[in-house]
Amino acid sequence: MIIDNYDPVLIVESIVLRSLLFMLEWILAAFSGINFTSQLEQIMPLDIVVGTQWGDEGKGRYVDLLSAQADFVARYNGGDNAGHTVTVGQQTFKLHLIPSGIVHPHTVGVIGNGVAINPYVLMDEINSLVQSGVDISPDRLKLSYGAHLITPAHLALDEAQESARGKSKIGTTLRGIGPAYTSKVSRQGIRLLDMLDEDLFIAKINKHVAEVNLLLTKIYEIEPLKPGPFEDDFLRFASLLKPHIYDVSSLLSGALKNDQRVLAEGAQGTLLDLDHGTYPFVTSSTPTAGGALVGLGLGMGYEDRIIGVTKSFQTRVGSGPFPTEISGDVALHLRGTGEQPWDEFGTTTGRPRRVGWLDLVLLRYAVRINGINELAITKLDVLSGLERLLICTSYQKDGTEYEVLPLGPGELMEYKPIYQEFQGWQEEITSIREWGHLPEQAIKYVQSIENLSGIRIRLISVGPERNQLIDRDLS
Ligand code: IMP
Repeated sequence: MIIDNYDPVLIVESIVLRSLLFMLEWILAAFSGINFTSQLEQIMPLDIVVGTQWGDEGKGRYVDLLSAQADFVARYNGGDNAGHTVTVGQQTFKLHLIPSGIVHPHTVGVIGNGVAINPYVLMDEINSLVQSGVDISPDRLKLSYGAHLITPAHLALDEAQESARGKSKIGTTLRGIGPAYTSKVSRQGIRLLDMLDEDLFIAKINKHVAEVNLLLTKIYEIEPLKPGPFEDDFLRFASLLKPHIYDVSSLLSGALKNDQRVLAEGAQGTLLDLDHGTYPFVTSSTPTAGGALVGLGLGMGYEDRIIGVTKSFQTRVGSGPFPTEISGDVALHLRGTGEQPWDEFGTTTGRPRRVGWLDLVLLRYAVRINGINELAITKLDVLSGLERLLICTSYQKDGTEYEVLPLGPGELMEYKPIYQEFQGWQEEITSIREWGHLPEQAIKYVQSIENLSGIRIRLISVGPERNQLIDRDLS
């Protein structure tokens, strides 16, 4: 199936319609004296970066690129289960919570209400950035009062639940994510707002530990936690974090109205989304683009670029279906040995990632669920040297071919991938910066992804360094 995104009839229709709207507004304004502003004239300064796969697509490098032009970079979901590597001068950090854009001196880092914060991790990140000279004053890092806390009790529960799942374990990052979002949804969570009243805060922590202890001892039959040791820690965190606690919704909405640029950074990916991923092998938050609005408290209508980041192949860490998964020499080629930081081993857990061919059924699904209007590819260079490349274009099940999953991606393993084969290229492409200079086969591969997804690919990374990038609008 080829989807043509550049249908000339549609383009002409759209121009005519927009011109008519413009004229109508002009006439209304002339007669009424009121200045109507159309979508056409409005600046829409919110960009959203989402992962189209199971996380680890390499979103960080595009967030880094776009945050250079942003006034605010805001994380909207997940917790320290995510991880990206940031370089400041000669130093390299693995950040899990603080948006990497904060290393740009002009950018304000924001953590939204959709994020779950482990304060131990947050304080470590703040301290290591401060030590290397990055300003993390309350003016530069704003935390939503509505963000929920991850406590040591959530970590203990995550571990207990995973081991109780036995063979059907999810393979969580053991960062307390599921239990913290469970507390949130069951309306028993502890929010940053609670830190503003110390007595109430400690009372809530103690109640929470007592409740989790009941589960640990009665259901999972393991030792309970003692609140004492972390009560003091949490009081200290409260006093340090208080000045950062903010109404993020109001801050960002005000900024957007003033045409300041906001970059919303999603963690994980579409197929790990609690509602739209490969349930139950998902995370417990909303990595998809809608999660940016809910997780930052923004209304609709500000979105400009919704950038879906996709690796040029596919990876997954943890359990769950992965129809295009491969093993053997090609898998080793794609994964790397683990010696290089960009090899396919988890940033947070160090686990080797499962690898496979790019799956266009799932990519089209991600385009639909997120409303993606631009794709960005990572790691095209990793495909160099492979004899042939495969792209899954549809699935087969019980003799029927499917280009669209009839009931979402939950029961994926019942489907057999149907592949289109491409000739590979042998050339190194890491020093190429111009689209037209890529080997013919690489161009064909990228163009096929565009044709099969219906979305233009503007950015292509050809190596781990910041400048190892092809921007097709510039080349
Ligand atoms: P949790 O988010 O720790 O509960 O883990 C649930 C599932 O999401 C597991 O399969 C994890 O491996 C996966 N996961 C969570 N965060 C990431 C991430 O940042 N990248 C890739 N996989 C992730």
